[in-house]
Amino acid sequence: MWRISPIISVFLCWSFPVHAQLLYTDVKNIVDDNCVVCHAADGPVSVLPFESLTEIKGKQDRMKRAVANGDMPMGNPDFSDSAEGKKLLDWLTNGKDLSEPSQQPSLITKDPRLLTFAEVEPLIKSNCQICHSPGRPMASLPLVTLANMRRRAKSAWNALDETKMPPTNRDFASSVEGRVIMGWLRYGRDVTWRSPNNNDDRIPGDDD
Ligand code: HEC
Ligand code: HEC
Repeated sequence: MWRISPIISVFLCWSFPVHAQLLYTDVKNIVDDNCVVCHAADGPVSVLPFESLTEIKGKQDRMKRAVANGDMPMGNPDFSDSAEGKKLLDWLTNGKDLSEPSQQPSLITKDPRLLTFAEVEPLIKSNCQICHSPGRPMASLPLVTLANMRRRAKSAWNALDETKMPPTNRDFASSVEGRVIMGWLRYGRDVTWRSPNNNDDRIPGDDD
């Protein structure tokens, strides 16, 4: 009998990793199979890729909300109740490598007058282009190029300030990413309401 006990203890450790914080490597297959099929650079949702930890970091709250609400994976509203779904939610909530500070320098501490389109573009991409880009529902109002953004600077700022955009996230204006985008829209080095190229009177939906 004494031979069994080490086996049992190994078995117990394997089966009940109590309070163990998951790592990306623990859930990568789940993300790849259930999300990356669409959320990839060459997939239908290329503006919001989840192909690596770097791409996921900072978006975990959005991912968590979308999964918990049953919105994602698209067409699979019961995913959050499955074992894989629960494991993914656990990682998105408590993941050890997600709680480490992001490697990217924080734009929120930067003077908005010094911000440039190049710096905020990734934020606009993942938060706005999911709808406002060619082939997406709001293709008629693209927010892709600097010219697009200069034209819409004031209406975009207002839409954020009034918590109209993104329609799926009414808390965006008070989030770090929302505040960075708003700061840039209003004061940014290459886009400002006072810019002569900025035409506030265009109606939404006209082509760029
Ligand atoms: C079948 C394709 C598909 C799969 C699979 C999929 N998504 Fe999506 N996802 C989309 C599309 C399309 C959008 C764009 C918004 C829309 O059209 O509703 C989107 C949008 C999102 C958004 C942005 C929503 C917001 O309001 O912030 C998040 C976050 C997201 N998906 C997370 C996930 C996660 C996490 C998974 C895997 C568990 C996943 N998605 C799987 C197609 C998919
Ligand atoms: C889930 C899809 C979706 C996302 C994400 C989204 N929008 Fe929109 N946006 C819409 C729709 C639909 C409309 C048109 C209907 C409306 O005005 O409510 C719109 C309209 C707008 C308008 C015109 C509104 C006006 O009053 O003239 C602006 C500006 C805008 N969006 C900016 C943004 C910005 C900036 C972001 C990112 C921070 C964003 N949107 C994210 C769907 C989206």
